[in-house]
Amino acid sequence: MKQKEIICGFSKLTKGQKLDYIAGFFEDPDEFVKELESYHHPDEKKQKLFDEFSENTISNYLIPFGIAPNFVIDGEVYHLPFVIEESSVVAAASKSAKFWSEKGGFHTEIVSVKKIGQVHFIWKGNKKKLFTLMPDLKERLIDSTRDITANMEKRGGGIIGIELVDMTAEMDDYFQLKATFNTVDSMGANFINSCLEEFAIELKDFLRTSPYFEEQEREVEIVMSILSNYTPDCVVKAWVECDVKDLGKIDESLNGEQFAHKFERAVRIAQIDTHRATTHNKGIFNGIDAVALATGNDFRALEAGGHTYAARDGKYKSLTDVEIRNGRFKYILTIPLAMGSVGGLTTLHPLAKRSLELLGNPGGKDLMRIAAVAGLSNNFGAIKSLITQGIQKGHMKMHLFNILNTMEANPQEKEKSVVHFAERKVSHKAVSAFIEKLRYGSLKEIHSPKQ
Ligand code: MEV
Repeated sequence: MKQKEIICGFSKLTKGQKLDYIAGFFEDPDEFVKELESYHHPDEKKQKLFDEFSENTISNYLIPFGIAPNFVIDGEVYHLPFVIEESSVVAAASKSAKFWSEKGGFHTEIVSVKKIGQVHFIWKGNKKKLFTLMPDLKERLIDSTRDITANMEKRGGGIIGIELVDMTAEMDDYFQLKATFNTVDSMGANFINSCLEEFAIELKDFLRTSPYFEEQEREVEIVMSILSNYTPDCVVKAWVECDVKDLGKIDESLNGEQFAHKFERAVRIAQIDTHRATTHNKGIFNGIDAVALATGNDFRALEAGGHTYAARDGKYKSLTDVEIRNGRFKYILTIPLAMGSVGGLTTLHPLAKRSLELLGNPGGKDLMRIAAVAGLSNNFGAIKSLITQGIQKGHMKMHLFNILNTMEANPQEKEKSVVHFAERKVSHKAVSAFIEKLRYGSLKEIHSPKQ
């Protein structure tokens, strides 16, 4: 086995050479190469497409593409594509979807769709003068991006506003050009960043050539020009509601009233306690990320923006809220989701295209609604389990297959395990003991007590 050391020019190697080089760090290099090659797409054209999404690729990494069916969203039925590796997520979403489909379904509202980008710059000049000249500068900035914005404007979007922000109280000589954009159906990162880089060039030129500035005011340091993944003005609301008494059918241990109040308490805890809030919100992103991945959206951007939004009051909190009034239960998710259904991977990845087709080729706003609903349904399912039977029962049932696969169980062993564990507690120890018993007779006791 090779010792790891710094390698120069890795990116210049062919894909095969990269794979061979990395194989050298494994005990079984030939097996490693074979294994990774077994995940190459047999169609060279398709494989090339995947290779070109990213850099230094040596294989493909498969993640399940599942369906969470039966969502009623604003009166329409959807079967949602979920790309996720975690067991129970699709099952939890599907169960919630089914439950709420019988109670009017999910409701949504787009609150706003504005996105922000900033040019951060350092300038040692008379700020009053710059603020006075801002209308002129703004006109020039907008003119400078005409080539970039023409298409977006045709689609109803473009630059909404540009303001100069004085940040000198935070850092000496620090200012921002803070621009607001509507990117319609696209996530818009490329569009926004291209506009911002043009703004930076124009700002430099404006300061250098305008007759109103002294010699020492002509210099500016552009620190960076980049969109912000914090999108508090690109927000969607999704909610479900029903009579409190209808919640009594969820779990036999709690009547509707008890369920609603225990549920409310669980959400309240996620509003008070940061540790709980983080896990609570993680459960929301289980659904959102799965839809984001399925539709070729950038789930890291959505997570970053969502978590920042959760801390917008200075304390990190739950992204959901409960209202119980006049015998009605209402559960609401409010979240920024800057998603797109055109451009980038949404158009390039064949399965992202198919996911969007399954969703009826939604526009950006409709995709925001759908993803928010996926998040709310997963979170509702998680809280429901947590306040009743706990999550491990359902989770371990789904996890049974992971354990069986780790043990390389054959189809007969899997079948027998499913029957055996239908009413028993699943644990790694219990499953190994059961499989060993199947394989070698009763060498070991089976520790799988009835639940
Ligand atoms: C697991 O992926 C997600 C949960 O932990 C979310 C939650 O606790 O609310 C079940």
